[in-house]
Amino acid sequence: MKALIIYATVEGQTGKIARFAADHIRELGHEVLLADADDPSEIAFDGVDAVILAGPVHQRRHPKTFEALIEASKTDLEQRKTLVMSVSLSAAFPEGLGEARDYLIEMEMRTGFKPDSEMLVAGAVRISQYDYFATQVVRHVVLRGRDHDLSAGEHEFTDWQAVSAALSTFLEEQ
Ligand SMILES: Cc1cc2nc3c(=O)[nH]c(=O)nc-3n(C[C@H](O)[C@H](O)[C@H](O)COP(=O)(O)O)c2cc1C
Repeated sequence: MKALIIYATVEGQTGKIARFAADHIRELGHEVLLADADDPSEIAFDGVDAVILAGPVHQRRHPKTFEALIEASKTDLEQRKTLVMSVSLSAAFPEGLGEARDYLIEMEMRTGFKPDSEMLVAGAVRISQYDYFATQVVRHVVLRGRDHDLSAGEHEFTDWQAVSAALSTFLEEQ
């Protein structure tokens, strides 16, 4: 099988998840192409059987360029097996899962594209990458009322085992 991973990332965690997914898929014996959604000239669907779309959530939505690419590629995507990985901090908390699902539903409504499979993936806190505004948003909006102390610094919530298991299941499904 040939898989194409298209990802967008702002602070780097979705890029890391996309590279991890590529390594895992290769270990399963498949061919993988990795493409940045911000460089559409690099994206080709020829011979591709499965597409994984990985994008982060910032201020309740996925990047506009990522959504635009999905919308523009709808015909190609609908002819293949597809998985969307939505990366957010809400997905790291049991009480945030409903909100994490809403981000995905809202993107599906805007783009008019519904993938075969969906994965809500917990992202990371990357304090070193934040400016003052980003720090305030993460502290007072995203993590508000959630059991995590931002002063602890960088923190990765991503459950790598869960990502591998979900990818294996997706690739096995017909
Ligand atoms: C300015 C800012 C806004 C964010 N907004 C949200 C949000 O609305 N909901 C959420 O669940 N996570 C939010 N996050 C958390 C990111 O989704 C998380 O850090 C993710 O790992 C980012 O992926 P990236 O490193 O690939 O950009 C936000 C993060 C930042 C810095």
